[in-house]
Amino acid sequence: MITALDHIAIAVPDLQKAIERFVEDFQLPLGGTEDVVEAKTKAAFLPLPPTSIELIHPLNDEGPVKTYLEKRGGGIHHLCFRSDDIEADVARLKEKGYQFLSDAPSPGAHNSLVIFIHPKSADGVLIELNQPADEH
Ligand code: CO
Repeated sequence: MITALDHIAIAVPDLQKAIERFVEDFQLPLGGTEDVVEAKTKAAFLPLPPTSIELIHPLNDEGPVKTYLEKRGGGIHHLCFRSDDIEADVARLKEKGYQFLSDAPSPGAHNSLVIFIHPKSADGVLIELNQPADEH
């Protein structure tokens, strides 16, 4: 079941500059940063309960976010819905014809399980499903 809007991710060409904007100008707290090796991204989390802003930047100058930045510059990259049972949600959505970017959920930030729905299945919006580590 989808239980929350976990985060909104924004791809940024300059992570430090973007962190400063959200912390100093918008006065959000910086919750932390993490290298998400599996996704080839460096991420900064700015909690704004009940959701958070996640700034993402290519890790080691490679990966899908690098491609995104080259094509579009910075921008809203994806929405993430939190799930309390990601396998069940994936199965339910696959049955409805949704296409996913991978066959099964894999490790994401904060040791959560994540999977992405293809934007073609959702009016051009990339949607991540995420089951937090303490719930799987
Ligand atoms: Co995300």
